[in-house]
Amino acid sequence: MHLTVIGTGYVGLVTGTCFAEMGNFVTCVDVDARKVERLKQGEIPIYEPGLEPLVLSNYKAGRLQFTTDLAEAMTTSNVYFIAVGTPPGEDGSADLQYVLGVAREIGRHLDRYAVVVDKSTVPVGTADKVRAAVREELERRRVSVPFDVVSNPEFLKEGAAVEDFMRPDRIVVGTDSAPARDLMYSLYADFSRNHDRILFMGVRDAEMTKYAANAMLATKISFMNEVAGLCDRFGVDVEQVRLGIGSDSRIGYSFIYPGCGYGGSCFPKDVKALIHMAEEAAIEPLLLGAVHRRNERQKQVLFEKITARLGNDLSGLTFGLWGLAFKPGTDDMREAPAVVLLHQLIGAGARVRAYDPEAMEVARNELPKAWFDSGALTLAQHQYDALEGSDVLVLVTEWKPFRHPDFGAVKRLLKTPLIFDGRNQYDPKKLKVDGFEYFGIGRKG
Ligand SMILES: NC(=O)c1ccc[n+]([C@@H]2O[C@H](COP(=O)([O-])OP(=O)(O)OC[C@H]3O[C@@H](n4cnc5c(N)ncnc54)[C@H](O)[C@@H]3O)[C@@H](O)[C@H]2O)c1
Repeated sequence: MHLTVIGTGYVGLVTGTCFAEMGNFVTCVDVDARKVERLKQGEIPIYEPGLEPLVLSNYKAGRLQFTTDLAEAMTTSNVYFIAVGTPPGEDGSADLQYVLGVAREIGRHLDRYAVVVDKSTVPVGTADKVRAAVREELERRRVSVPFDVVSNPEFLKEGAAVEDFMRPDRIVVGTDSAPARDLMYSLYADFSRNHDRILFMGVRDAEMTKYAANAMLATKISFMNEVAGLCDRFGVDVEQVRLGIGSDSRIGYSFIYPGCGYGGSCFPKDVKALIHMAEEAAIEPLLLGAVHRRNERQKQVLFEKITARLGNDLSGLTFGLWGLAFKPGTDDMREAPAVVLLHQLIGAGARVRAYDPEAMEVARNELPKAWFDSGALTLAQHQYDALEGSDVLVLVTEWKPFRHPDFGAVKRLLKTPLIFDGRNQYDPKKLKVDGFEYFGIGRKG
């Protein structure tokens, strides 16, 4: 099949590449000319494990192309995946300007039956808006061309995106059109070989499923963070509690890790968008509101622990910070707890030496230039270099190389043997024996 994927970010690039890997001919479109140029030069603009070789081999085989020209891409295909961003607006609602902009552009060039697929995460009712936007442009051109709009939300996880796309838990397709259903089935059958993973449902059901999934995961994290706060106060080790409840098959072990808050481009914005959807419908989002507030609060916890130990004025102190990405396996720093902590530490007069295995380039481009110019923030060459001359180690993202560090070296390099562990990676008892002072999240130090 010939497909067009519009928006070549984390979702679009992975989607396009994985479809190409299955033998389809895919054109990836993006308005960012620099990004398209880099891709044509064989440079992958994002870090995602396993993605680079797949992009390169499919590009070389001629199954994957990159362009800024949607009209041209549309001439060779009749399936258009919209995978552009839906960032939060001022009021928390999903900003649909990019999705609807693409829909209008499709309407300006559509000349035969096509399926328009909403892959971006969009509020319930967006497929109707996409349909209306395409139709409006067709009417303006005084032509009548049949088309269907399908909701096909994406559930991949950054850091495991290729694996998730290739071997999905489920593929959700919302449509009430038989031809669109057949087309989506044949496209996704390749990813659903050993048992049927394709769930067909109504368009609005599919739109809601994506938000409900992310809100559920965010709820589990916020719940556990709240329990961790109680554990802190009552001298309980939350890691024991985690094991104690995770072993209950009704609860399970996943997504109950306490930490310094969830970030990324999805959970925070999707919870906010669902809250906005509820409020628009005059439904009070009691639980979702609490999930969001707990997370905002949780991003303060590490800093509060730091100031409780070291005082409010941190001038003269240098913090070695491990982890900038919002989670391991990605270079994505959108809404990362590390960014909040950097603002807090630097705002309190501290200097920071930070290191992340993959997010250094993103950090250099996206963090305030003034921090680098003033020397408040230095990006270190490697994880131990971040500790050279630092007073304290703060772990923010649990990348594998941070999990089992050489504590002898850590102790030698730090001016004070003091560790704040935002992801409960280390054993407090062992660190105590090794002469460290340790602060985790909801743990007895
Ligand atoms: N990142 C994830 O892990 C993830 C997972 C599931 C779903 N989603 C959803 O998928 C959507 C995309 O997310 P992302 O993380 O890939 O975003 P992203 O910001 O990485 O990529 C979006 C891309 O769209 C491009 N774009 C914007 N307007 C365009 C237009 N008119 N024409 C062509 N390209 C255009 C941008 O230049 C950018 O490259 C969002 O709705 C997001 O919520 C993301």
